[in-house]
Amino acid sequence: MNMLRHKVLVLHGPNLDLLGERETGIYGRDSLENINAGIIRCAQDLGLDCEVHQSNSEGAIIDLLHSARGRFDGVVINAAAYTHYSIAIRDAIAAIRIPCIEVHMSNVYAREEFRHTSVIAPVCAGSISGFGKNSYMLAIYGLKDLL
Ligand code: DQA
Repeated sequence: MNMLRHKVLVLHGPNLDLLGERETGIYGRDSLENINAGIIRCAQDLGLDCEVHQSNSEGAIIDLLHSARGRFDGVVINAAAYTHYSIAIRDAIAAIRIPCIEVHMSNVYAREEFRHTSVIAPVCAGSISGFGKNSYMLAIYGLKDLL
C-alpha cells in the first residue's frame, strides 16, 4: 500500500438509501449503489482511497464522524435533512478537526425555505449544492486540493 495516499470518508445521511426511487424528479434515477461506484472511481482517479457509508440515524452518522479521527484525511458529507437542524452533527464535524465538504444533490436554495438553512455549513470547509450526483465528485475534487 502507498502510505502517501490520502483517505476520504463519504457519508450519506437519511433517505439517500432510496436514491433511484425517491423523488426522481429532484434526485434523479441513479441508485445509491451506482452513485457510490462513481464516487469510488472518481476518488481512485484522483489518487485517493475512499470509503462510503449511508445511515438513516443521526447517532450512527456521529459515530462514523468520530471514527474518522486518525483514519481519514477528509470527509464528504451529505447530511440530507439533518443538514437543516442537527446541531449534534455540526458539533461532531467541528470536534473531529478533519476538513469536511458539505454536499447536496439538489439546489437547496431553489427549494423550500427550511432547506435554505444549513447548520453544518459554518463548520465545513466548503459546500456544493445542485449538481446531482456530480455534487459528490466536485466535492472530492475540491477536497483533494485541501489535503
Ligand atoms: C439533500 C437536500 C436535503 O434538503 C434533503 O433533506 C435531502 C437531500 C440533497 O442531497 O439535495 O434528503 O441533502
